[in-house]
Amino acid sequence: MLEARPPLFASDWLVGAPYDDVPMGVLKTGKESEVHLLARIGPERTSFIAEKRFKERRSRGFRNDYRYAGVWGAGGRREARAIRNRTRFGQQAIQARWIDHEWTTLTRLYEAGVTVPPPVEQVADGYRMAFVGDGDRAAPRLTEIDLDRETARRVWREVQLEIRRMLEADVVHGDLSAFNVLWWRGRAVLIDFSQAVDAVTHPAARELLVRDVERAASYFVRMGVAIDVRAALAVVGDSPARFASQLLSS
Ligand SMILES: Nc1ncnc2c1ncn2[C@@H]1O[C@H](COP(=O)(O)OP(=O)(O)OP(=O)(O)O)[C@@H](O)[C@H]1O
Ligand SMILES: [Mg+2]
Repeated sequence: MLEARPPLFASDWLVGAPYDDVPMGVLKTGKESEVHLLARIGPERTSFIAEKRFKERRSRGFRNDYRYAGVWGAGGRREARAIRNRTRFGQQAIQARWIDHEWTTLTRLYEAGVTVPPPVEQVADGYRMAFVGDGDRAAPRLTEIDLDRETARRVWREVQLEIRRMLEADVVHGDLSAFNVLWWRGRAVLIDFSQAVDAVTHPAARELLVRDVERAASYFVRMGVAIDVRAALAVVGDSPARFASQLLSS
């Protein structure tokens, strides 16, 4: 059903011909990041790109939260020591891993067919992706709009399938809610993978999946959809078997 619809994003923002990237200002300033709009102007056409830039790690309160424990992968001992000791180098190392993690997740999900902004490229302090919107406006978050009940029912079904597709790609979003879903041309677009975890190896993956489903569901319940969270968890592919290894190893 999803496949039958026209593509949400033009796939020609990486114009082969020479282009100019023109900054168009800040789209959103958040606690942890700033999202900038760029116009990529080629000889034939202009496309819009969103650039997510991460702020200094220092201000981000993640480090005592065990749910992030599995996010950081390999890294040298010097790096590990610097991170532990909170040196400047350690902060930069964390920052780089954080950005890399989000970029890698976005790319993986895009390739798995999840409805996300197509990734464009990495930059020094962040990454670029397709801008969800057009020359006139940015897509609103779901929190900013009300869907009629029939549309909400349809979109809730689709969001469950998106979560399922993520899980099949071994990713749990980890911060899913109507704040991190954009609404564009009748479709839900998932964004913000900074807290995504590996569904296979992360000890809190199942807990985060349940929280994602509950939080996403709460928006649709407000829009009048009757939701049984346990049934929804079955739809997205939660099962004791899938997460058994974590239970054994944690
Ligand atoms: N590709 C995009 N196209 C259009 N708007 C976007 C895009 N990516 C992000 N935004 C806008 O920027 C906001 C912040 O992005 P995101 O959720 O990824 O970052 P964040 O660190 O969670 O920021 P915040 O602290 O505001 O929650 C989004 O809610 C959305 O409004
Ligand atoms: Mg966000």
